[in-house]
Amino acid sequence: MTRVLLFGANGQVGRETTALAAERGIELRALDRAAVDITDPVALARAFEGARPDIAINAAAYTAVDKAESEPEAAARVNAMAPGLIAERCEREGVPLIHISTDYVFDGTKVGAYVEADPIAPLGVYGRTKAAGEAAVRAATERHVILRTSWVYGMHGANFLKTMLRLAKERDRLTIVGDQRGCPTATRDIAEALLAVTAAARAGTARFGTYHFAGTGTTTWHGFATEIVREAARHTGRTPEVAAITTADYPTPAKRPANSQLDSSLFERTFRFRAAPWQARVAEVVDGLLAPAPTEAT
Ligand SMILES: NC(=O)c1ccc[n+]([C@@H]2O[C@H](COP(=O)([O-])OP(=O)(O)OC[C@H]3O[C@@H](n4cnc5c(N)ncnc54)[C@H](OP(=O)(O)O)[C@@H]3O)[C@@H](O)[C@H]2O)c1
Repeated sequence: MTRVLLFGANGQVGRETTALAAERGIELRALDRAAVDITDPVALARAFEGARPDIAINAAAYTAVDKAESEPEAAARVNAMAPGLIAERCEREGVPLIHISTDYVFDGTKVGAYVEADPIAPLGVYGRTKAAGEAAVRAATERHVILRTSWVYGMHGANFLKTMLRLAKERDRLTIVGDQRGCPTATRDIAEALLAVTAAARAGTARFGTYHFAGTGTTTWHGFATEIVREAARHTGRTPEVAAITTADYPTPAKRPANSQLDSSLFERTFRFRAAPWQARVAEVVDGLLAPAPTEAT
């Protein structure tokens, strides 16, 4: 039986992966920040000693993209230093590591989808610290899979889809950025991908390295919001207008790439798993969040 140790238990990806592993009967110990602060090497050593894992997954990160601009040291500790510490511990214990990274390592100037060999050029603190985390993992252990993903949403935690559901309830008109293009990725697909890598690592067939993994298909934030509102209307009957605005109309502390589409074909070929079309996952998540819970039979 494979023993998996996961950091970031309370995050979007952490919670979904824990649930999927339980569904599949996979032994996964998920630790939240209270159990182990990943910036603390002593706590990390204790966690590995306690869990004796066959594989580790780092789903913990400092993910507040705008806040990172004013807290660069805090972001760097979690996104850059800590992955290095985890990777060093993995190397010492002979444990492969799956580390999650981001589309925001790219500057968005490429025409078309980014492949793994494309040069990185992060635009902000979050992307820079995540890029440094990737480098720290590569330097510490060869037995790593770095999974770059994008525009993450699901049932658990805070995300764009949930914000849109709230705004669609409160407002008659939503204004959403329409000139940034990327791949919305459901946590369910990321959890499936993480378990596919875990299985390959256990079987000794994993090809270590850096991979892109995102939902199938691309859109803009405006397209993503339009789909969410359309799906929500099946439950609420509410059809607020979703108007496209430009990045210049919606200034944020962090600059974001205009294009962060990820080409996932290398991952699909290597690990034989392809994410669902993003629209299908949006429908599932909206149903999960808005469908009335079944009433108990009396
Ligand atoms: N969200 C996105 O759109 C997106 C896009 C591309 C890539 N990614 C990457 O995908 C991965 C998972 O993201 P997510 O959306 O699941 O993130 P999330 O929901 O923000 O969860 C991150 C988790 O990391 C934990 N954490 C932060 N600092 C920690 C520390 N020092 N020690 C231990 N745990 C700590 C947080 O704990 P608390 O709950 O206590 O705060 C939180 O539960 C990350 O690597 C992220 O960079 C995310």
